[in-house]
Amino acid sequence: MALKITVIGTGYLGATHAAAMAELGFEVLGLDVVPEKIEMLQRGEVPMYEPGLAELLRKHVAGIEGSSGRLRFTMDWAEAGGFGDVHFVCVNTPQKHGEYACDMSYVDSAFASLAPHVTSGALVVGKSTVPVGSADRLARLLPEGVELAWNPEFLREGFAVKDTLHPDRIVIGVRSERAEKLLREVYATPVAEGSPFVVTDFPTAELVKTSANSFLATKISFINAMAEVCEAADGDVVKLAEALGYDDRIGAKFLRAGIGFGGGCLPKDIRAFMARAGELGADQALTFLREVDSINMRRRGHMVELAREAVGGGSFLGKRVAVLGAAFKPDSDDVRDSPALNVAGQIHLQGGQVTVYDPKGMDNARRLFPTLGYAETALDAVRGADVVLHLTEWREFRELDPEVLGEAAGRRVLLDGRNALDPERWRAAGWTFRAMGRPTA
Ligand code: UDX
Repeated sequence: MALKITVIGTGYLGATHAAAMAELGFEVLGLDVVPEKIEMLQRGEVPMYEPGLAELLRKHVAGIEGSSGRLRFTMDWAEAGGFGDVHFVCVNTPQKHGEYACDMSYVDSAFASLAPHVTSGALVVGKSTVPVGSADRLARLLPEGVELAWNPEFLREGFAVKDTLHPDRIVIGVRSERAEKLLREVYATPVAEGSPFVVTDFPTAELVKTSANSFLATKISFINAMAEVCEAADGDVVKLAEALGYDDRIGAKFLRAGIGFGGGCLPKDIRAFMARAGELGADQALTFLREVDSINMRRRGHMVELAREAVGGGSFLGKRVAVLGAAFKPDSDDVRDSPALNVAGQIHLQGGQVTVYDPKGMDNARRLFPTLGYAETALDAVRGADVVLHLTEWREFRELDPEVLGEAAGRRVLLDGRNALDPERWRAAGWTFRAMGRPTA
């Protein structure tokens, strides 16, 4: 008989994992403690913008016409504890307020709530990104006969469905052959379709996730450091990245210079990793991440200075600044630690009249930065602007007509904070175009 699966926590990770497990043919019960979330999911709606996720939910959520009926949701821990053969814990681990360390309270309370109800013989699988050593501690919270495994998740926002159904790799940390066997059963389809399956111990499994994110953050900060040098030496970081990327050992991905990384993962994960290394007495091993973080934060300040220069070099007072982009990256409505909104907020605080437009991130941006100005279209955002900042590389922005925008803007001055626009196209329409780490003309 097919395994039954519960998924604890229905945020980005959990909602996607639950829908993907139903797609793979399992009976799935998703649990969350927030009633509004459960109600939305039961209608086949998602509380965030994630391409393909709502469709996948509607394909499987019980009660929706034509669905497989394999996916249900609940708020009842006893029901969840009695349902699953395998329980995936997918709650989030945000950065603690005012500290580098991550906040484990959601994970801890999920384990505390599940433990009294989980049936003997079940396997609990942690997917949340946690400080190394957490799995060992959490395993001891489970009752006799209930085992823990650790199975980090590497999905990217905007590609969550694809990354979950066709992962680059599946990593599991296990303490028994039985746990490995159960997880091989869960992931049989992606493995058959070519996803590598890596079996290891708890600490290594936990570390794969934090070290992968640290590597990605380092790669971005490396190219952004090169952008700083390119600017000083009049070089072109886009050409440099292209030439570097042809070396297989380096690879072309994650070498896009600009205003740097943000979002709910990379920034907080590298900080939590440093904090944990400190606790373990290995802080020296990760001091380079402090530099990775500071290069990244410097990018935002640099964009503010480029914008200041573009409006005359002095104060932003009385200057209109159009900001294209609010989400931390395209194809997402997530504005957590968004470099775009951070730049917009800094300019606003310095007296600039900022108008933001983003294809999907407007509601979240308004909630987080209610004092910024917002426009319903890119064209409206640039009306009368002294400078236009391109800060999130949505396709929609690449397709804008420089001529039409030029007629609306006060001045034809554009700063590309993502190195995603074609300088020639904009310059041909009379724009003063400047990109980060590239020659000025
Ligand atoms: C990341 C990891 O990629 C994923 O594996 C992990 O599970 C969660 O964290 P995500 O936060 O969704 O995923 O975004 P990602 O695509 O990695 O981008 C992170 C940030 O880096 C974005 O702000 C993006 O704009 C920036 N970035 C990315 C660059 O500035 N340059 C690049 O070349 C690539």
